[in-house]
Amino acid sequence: MNSKPNVAVVGATGAVGVEMIRTLEKRNFQVATLRLLASTRSVGKKLKFRGEEIAIKELGRDSFRGIDIALFSAGGSISKEFAPMAAKAGCVVIDNSSAFRMDESVPLVIPEINATDIELHSGIIANPNCTTAITLMALYPLHRAFQVKRIFASSYQAVSGTGAKAIEELERQVGQIVAGRPVTKEVYPHQIAFNVLPHVDSFLPSGYTREEMKMENEGRKIMHHPAFRASVTCVRVPVYRAHSVAVSAEFARPVSAEAARTVLGKAPGLDLVDDPEKKEYPMPLYTAEKYNCQVGRIRQDCALDNGLCFWVSGDQLLKGAALNAVQIAEELVK
Ligand SMILES: NC(=O)c1ccc[n+]([C@@H]2O[C@H](COP(=O)([O-])OP(=O)(O)OC[C@H]3O[C@@H](n4cnc5c(N)ncnc54)[C@H](OP(=O)(O)O)[C@@H]3O)[C@@H](O)[C@H]2O)c1
Repeated sequence: MNSKPNVAVVGATGAVGVEMIRTLEKRNFQVATLRLLASTRSVGKKLKFRGEEIAIKELGRDSFRGIDIALFSAGGSISKEFAPMAAKAGCVVIDNSSAFRMDESVPLVIPEINATDIELHSGIIANPNCTTAITLMALYPLHRAFQVKRIFASSYQAVSGTGAKAIEELERQVGQIVAGRPVTKEVYPHQIAFNVLPHVDSFLPSGYTREEMKMENEGRKIMHHPAFRASVTCVRVPVYRAHSVAVSAEFARPVSAEAARTVLGKAPGLDLVDDPEKKEYPMPLYTAEKYNCQVGRIRQDCALDNGLCFWVSGDQLLKGAALNAVQIAEELVK
């Protein structure tokens, strides 16, 4: 890989795309040229990168000529159509959608966990689901130390996880309620302002949602742990940014809260924020816009053998999407 690659961002105007551009700039990723791609709706718009205004181009068949790395975040159907085309044109695709995550020929990577899987790519590398990524940042170090068997978890997912339109929906609904006007809904099936929705993604015949099953399926692949089991309830909450997850994990080996704190205190990409006496624990308001995830509320689980409870929070637009993608790109040019 060229050490100063030509980079394209597909879905550059979206909630994730904008963060990708910012993250490339903030981490001083060496880019020869940056091509910004979106739909016809965005043609004519410009976005800033390193002080320079770059015009958005319409995504098309010829968009990848001369590109070395393409960061995709325009939804699954766009990835399915254009990622193989981009790979064929010779660039490495880092895809944020769920289109290729479970494809055996596509590595699914969190660099702090399985960076070496990147070497196995044949043109496409997948970024994991955001809730899974944030959970695994704390779970994987514990797994290495104590061998996780299964988890029970509930997520508290921010509206920006649904995209730019959902951020507008929460803002609009808060304004409508404060002004005493009727609430309008466009993105979610129910009012999200001052409410919680136990519904993220579509329902499966089992009663779980697709989002909920990503934790088990993607967790197995990333941790190389095919026996890992996860029972998850995903919940959308009226928070703008950063997801949080309450986890009860059962391990094969005995675990104590103190031993877990020692392990988690040394984990890469993770900060230990765990002093309940001082009312210190991770909260989405303070993990938003941070690269590191935070873990706290660590305690022995009173209902499981060798069990541990913890609470992990992280910016899903960053570690759950843009940051993780740029970290993969950094590995590619190493
Ligand atoms: N939001 C998150 O926290 C998060 C986390 C992990 C993964 N993801 C995944 O990342 C992807 C994008 O999510 P998002 O939250 O950024 O969504 P979003 O805010 O709705 O942005 C969607 C982007 O895709 C572009 N797009 C839509 N249709 C297109 C088309 N026909 N041709 C070219 N570009 C098109 C949009 O361009 P226009 O502005 O021109 O319409 C926009 O740039 C999804 O696959 C999502 O599952 C999101």
